[in-house]
Amino acid sequence: MTLALSQLSKTYPGRDGHPVRAVLGLDLLVQDGEIVALLGSSGCGKTSTLRMIAGFEDVTDGSITLAGRRIDTLPPDRRRVAMAFEGYALYPPLTVAENIGFGLARDRRGLSRKDADKRVQDVAEMLEIADLLAKRPASLSGGQQQRASLARALARDADLHLLDEPMGQLEPQLRAVLRGRVKATLKARNCTSVLVTHDQTEANAMADRIAVMEAGVLQQFGTGAELRDRPANLFVATFFGEPPMNAFSARVQPDGLHPADAPGKAIALPGVPLPDHGVNVVLGVRPHHIRLGEGTLHGSVISNQWLGDQAHVVVEMRDKIVVAVSHARVPLRVGESVAFGFAPEDTHIFDASTGRALAHGMQRP
Ligand SMILES: Nc1ncnc2c1ncn2[C@@H]1O[C@H](COP(=O)(O)OP(=O)(O)OP(=O)(O)O)[C@@H](O)[C@H]1O
Ligand SMILES: [Mg+2]
Repeated sequence: MTLALSQLSKTYPGRDGHPVRAVLGLDLLVQDGEIVALLGSSGCGKTSTLRMIAGFEDVTDGSITLAGRRIDTLPPDRRRVAMAFEGYALYPPLTVAENIGFGLARDRRGLSRKDADKRVQDVAEMLEIADLLAKRPASLSGGQQQRASLARALARDADLHLLDEPMGQLEPQLRAVLRGRVKATLKARNCTSVLVTHDQTEANAMADRIAVMEAGVLQQFGTGAELRDRPANLFVATFFGEPPMNAFSARVQPDGLHPADAPGKAIALPGVPLPDHGVNVVLGVRPHHIRLGEGTLHGSVISNQWLGDQAHVVVEMRDKIVVAVSHARVPLRVGESVAFGFAPEDTHIFDASTGRALAHGMQRP
């Protein structure tokens, strides 16, 4: 079922008389069977967005439609939306099995007891909590409660599945396994889904498209590759990708870009569509595109760490920290001076005042 958010906004009254604008004019179209991740830092409005879709929070402005039907005016139990809550919200008197089966009984009145029990068993096995089915939530660990809450949402036959940080409490190994299984389950049943996370690896691994939010505002909506290769603005450029993109303040001059942290140096970027002379820009280069040992910029090595499969080398150029990533070991010692540079096609140019992207390599956005 297609989900459409149109100019969706949420303002909370706020305690001290200052209203909190949690979500501002959010437009988002999630296609039938698509998994979309809402990615953003703490407080950017992810949970508020999900709670408005599920109906636990009123919409301040805008509308929500699911399969062409306006749902923001309906009570939560008439929206056919399943949600795994950030705080789990399990029913304490019920066993894990009863919690997981709770919504299922209502979604499918025709479902036999045997089939419902099988669904509960299958989803519990998939999430590795089958041995906990007879227990009550209070006797479970945080990670077990989280999986019980996720199981309750996944078991349901809803038109839309909303998952709010569904694996945040799990250890990395289990999370990596469950990511794949949960995605396969959602895809096998063609579940239209919105996954909230602040973990970009999870967003990349599970989602078809990613919506990056900051301060209640959608910054960009696209595939992981689009966000990485063509970030719409400096926020997305430096937020998405690990380690973050290097960003150099610079001014456009007739002979190229003059970085603020390397006076007297010009970086020629042939083929890159630069704005007019005199304009202040930010030049972005991803760490794995920094070429150590070649180029016109210089700095001093302040750390060089081998992480098992890649080297992270941190170089200081005046007050500017530059991070380079290499897939081979780099023979540089701390304190050593090093030249570095990058290819014009690996650069991104942003307007310094608005943050808007002006060029990705040789192309305009
Ligand atoms: N019930 C509420 N009353 C007032 N302000 C609220 C309420 N719920 C959330 N907020 C505020 O709205 C903003 C967005 O909160 P929200 O919970 O949607 O963020 P989030 O992106 O889910 O963050 P996190 O990653 O920490 O879970 C925050 O500034 C938060 O303090
Ligand atoms: Mg949240």
